[in-house]
Amino acid sequence: MIRSRICEMLGIKYPVFQGGMAWVADASLAAAVSNAGGLGLVSSINAGTEAVRNEIRKCRELTDKPFGVNIMLQAPNAGEIAQMVVEEGVKILTTGAGSPSQYMAMWKEAGIKVIPVVASVALALKMQAAGADAVVAEGAESGGHVGELHTMPLIPQVVDALDIPVVAAGGICDGRGVAAAFMLGADAVQVGTRFLSAEECTVHQEYKDKILKATDISTIVTGKSLGHPVRSLKTPFSKNFARMESDPSVNKEDILALGTGALRKAVKEGDRNGTYMAGECAGMVKKIEPAKDIVEDLILGAEKIITGFSARM
Ligand SMILES: Cc1cc2nc3c(=O)[nH]c(=O)nc-3n(C[C@H](O)[C@H](O)[C@H](O)COP(=O)(O)O)c2cc1C
Repeated sequence: MIRSRICEMLGIKYPVFQGGMAWVADASLAAAVSNAGGLGLVSSINAGTEAVRNEIRKCRELTDKPFGVNIMLQAPNAGEIAQMVVEEGVKILTTGAGSPSQYMAMWKEAGIKVIPVVASVALALKMQAAGADAVVAEGAESGGHVGELHTMPLIPQVVDALDIPVVAAGGICDGRGVAAAFMLGADAVQVGTRFLSAEECTVHQEYKDKILKATDISTIVTGKSLGHPVRSLKTPFSKNFARMESDPSVNKEDILALGTGALRKAVKEGDRNGTYMAGECAGMVKKIEPAKDIVEDLILGAEKIITGFSARM
């Protein structure tokens, strides 16, 4: 069975993280992934700090396995959430959108494993120096906020630079992707887009339908002009967003206003003025299935490829 030092560090069976996904990753999805032997992550972006606290408590009722919380550091209530997770006895955190250095001492004292998401070697090194236990290195194939580098060149460069474990993310959707990530030196994978199709994922049915209909060229990156590039499904809304960005007569405030709350609209309402964040691998997602089947397909698929490949050599 594929295992790595990350499994020992976090007490999980399989080296598979379900990505923290704003508005998406609730107790239902996180607990299902943890129960399946992976690491479920509850997102801290939904209706406020107390709602996240409730979601953490709900997750604990649904699973006795380890799970974590993802904190987006640019959120206005990030400081409050940083404190709340300590109060709630959360033991694993992933962080996005910047450096969690200012909270590191508090979290370490509380015995929390801290795993920042990075998109470059420089930030990965900074996180290691700040005391991170591992990093998630996320390539620009991924859904949601993206950096510049892609998974294939990013992972080995981060692996070479660090001593701590590296979790590969971005474009990993089946056993082939998991096997490739391990070949690149990763200790685990983080998967977002494929879990959007999990039975336990509570996104609006319209979101799931759009993922199932996606092809290889169904995603678009918007928001570069705002300094926050985001990968989502191509829809009339996202294409209009891209057109507005390239039109110099449209001011930035109008573009920003259009994007505000758009992920929530997609996740909760299936609204056509929503942003359906998804990665390039959306075209590989073909069915709705239990999170357990997804986790097992990722791991067993990778094992089959790795053993089959060595048998051919
Ligand atoms: C709908 C959606 C929302 C996301 N929101 C967050 C987030 O709030 N915080 C974060 O660190 N990453 C977020 N991500 C990134 C995922 O955690 C994960 O790293 C990424 O989806 C992996 O790439 P993949 O989509 O190709 O599987 C999001 C991804 C998606 C698809």
